Amino acid sequence: MTPEQPAPKLSRVDGESVSDLERRKHGSGQPDSQDPVESAPRRIAGPRVDTPSANGDAGAGARRGLAVRLEGLRAFYGRAEQVKGIDLEFRANEVTAIIGPSGCGKSTLVRCINRMHEEVPGAHAEGRVLLEDLDVYGPSVDVVAVRRAVGMVFQKPNPFPTMSVFDNVAAGLRLTSRRRRDLHERVEAALRGAGLWEEVSERLDEPGAGLSGGQQQRLCIARSLAVEPEVILMDEPCSALDPVATLKIEELIDELKQRVTIVIVTHNMQQAARVADRTAFMLDGQLVEAGPTQEIFTNPGDPRTEEYVTGKFG
Ligand SMILES: Nc1ncnc2c1ncn2[C@@H]1O[C@H](COP(=O)(O)OP(=O)(O)OP(=O)(O)O)[C@@H](O)[C@H]1O
Ligand SMILES: [Mg+2]
Repeated sequence: MTPEQPAPKLSRVDGESVSDLERRKHGSGQPDSQDPVESAPRRIAGPRVDTPSANGDAGAGARRGLAVRLEGLRAFYGRAEQVKGIDLEFRANEVTAIIGPSGCGKSTLVRCINRMHEEVPGAHAEGRVLLEDLDVYGPSVDVVAVRRAVGMVFQKPNPFPTMSVFDNVAAGLRLTSRRRRDLHERVEAALRGAGLWEEVSERLDEPGAGLSGGQQQRLCIARSLAVEPEVILMDEPCSALDPVATLKIEELIDELKQRVTIVIVTHNMQQAARVADRTAFMLDGQLVEAGPTQEIFTNPGDPRTEEYVTGKFG
């Protein structure tokens, strides 16, 4: 794909795209403007960044997240089954934490949601992952478009090391948008959305790798926000950060959920309790239980959950 080509459409056999789903959900049957690019369905035409307010909160035109539902999800590395038939819903515009001991399949599960799992040689997934009612494993769905709709932030901040702060955020936009003139505006909006603008507005041409760890992680969040995902997956996003940087990310998560649905893997029980509306507890590739965070921590239904959240194992 050249930079000038429109992004591929996330569609299924009957031709319904994610943008169609969104319009049906939020009641707008009209295209956004008469601009030839902007008036095409959003997921075909590429991103349109609503300008968020300075603190990144959701303005009138803010995007909304989509619900994700796993149905009988199984994930394999070769013949080894590491996610063993999970049914779980991530509600729209909520934060869901996934907790569980090391090796229980948390990362594997989240990587199935945006089809990153299948990038591992020999790995495959079975079952369904529904974005609203669109199966991201459907036969005509475009994988690149899935990954744009479902962004990912990793444990270790991974800005493109040789790129400037600006280019790190603009990278995804350059690949997917035909419009150049408002690139700067979109980069600024994404950086504001990630709570980083004030800190980097004078340093946009400096290498992204020169920022602090916490700033780099927010840069990665800005990079994923720039292409306007509906869902963001965060796999232990704070595990390499100090408590101050961690707090900033947690505050940001709280703001971002107004715009996107968030799934966060964490080993930190306090973090799950602070940021998550709902929590899911996994053990040995299976879901033990999921529910409102407070319930999972104070009155879980399964004794294994209680043992885990009270630190008796894991
Ligand atoms: N690329 C891979 N090839 C083969 N097996 C893998 C691969 N990645 C993970 N696994 C295995 O799948 C299982 C689940 O791993 P996963 O990384 O999903 O666990 P996790 O819950 O995220 O653990 P942690 O908390 O340590 O990050 C583990 O047994 C792991 O060894
Ligand atoms: Mg992991």
